[in-house]
Amino acid sequence: MSVPAITPWVVGNWKMNPMQASAKQLVQELKQLLQNQNIEESDCHMGVAPIALALTDIRAQLHDSSRTVYTVAQDVSRFAGTGAYTGEISAELLQDSGIGFVLVGHSERREYFADTPAILNEKIKNALNANLKVIYCVGESLEQRENGQAELTVLQQICDIAAVVQAEQWNNIIVAYEPIWAIGTGKTASPEDAQAMHAKIREGLSQITPAGKTMAILYGGSVKPENAVELAACPDINGALVGGASLNAESFYKIAQAFANTK
Ligand code: 13P
Repeated sequence: MSVPAITPWVVGNWKMNPMQASAKQLVQELKQLLQNQNIEESDCHMGVAPIALALTDIRAQLHDSSRTVYTVAQDVSRFAGTGAYTGEISAELLQDSGIGFVLVGHSERREYFADTPAILNEKIKNALNANLKVIYCVGESLEQRENGQAELTVLQQICDIAAVVQAEQWNNIIVAYEPIWAIGTGKTASPEDAQAMHAKIREGLSQITPAGKTMAILYGGSVKPENAVELAACPDINGALVGGASLNAESFYKIAQAFANTK
């Protein structure tokens, strides 16, 4: 089931990278590229997700760029508001610092930080209640794919959050499909396999909410300028969540350009 034009999103997940000076340089280079040849906001939304310590500085640095580049938090606390939760950053504190987007459910958080579906639901509920937009990540492991459980796993991850997302809040969710075996490995899902999974995700979302037809579903996992054009051509791939290649301004820019050109 393909959909009418959805403005694509290209978001760079910087993970635990880079040092502050390199982050500033990266943003400077990106701003320069966009100034020389802009990518229209209406053709592609863009965002970067730096480490928590750099969120407000990067947001300030992006303030005078020639187009909007959103600043995205990589995680949010499962506890709301303010309080005695050492080391945590709540959705309200992000909102208070002008950060409007957050990644939730990245496979690295699920794997290394024990973010269970129950915890992820608390994070999503808090984020949406604080008016943040959520980029919700899903994806199967290699073992699950080889056992023919890829679809089931991913659809279950979509169903998991249905319990906490209110009807009107689905418009504030972007889904990112990131097969775990493709993250940081240089292996990408073929455009056919990725499109097939994206179509399933859209079908699943559409059964839960009318917004499913128009929600952006991003692909992530070794996206590079070399494979972005093919991925962008798939009808249900509405953008990319980019790890490694987003640490290079030119690569990131080219990926955004590839998606913008599909409009
Ligand atoms: P890579 O692009 O480095 O494979 O990372 C993908 C990812 O995990 C983005 O969230």
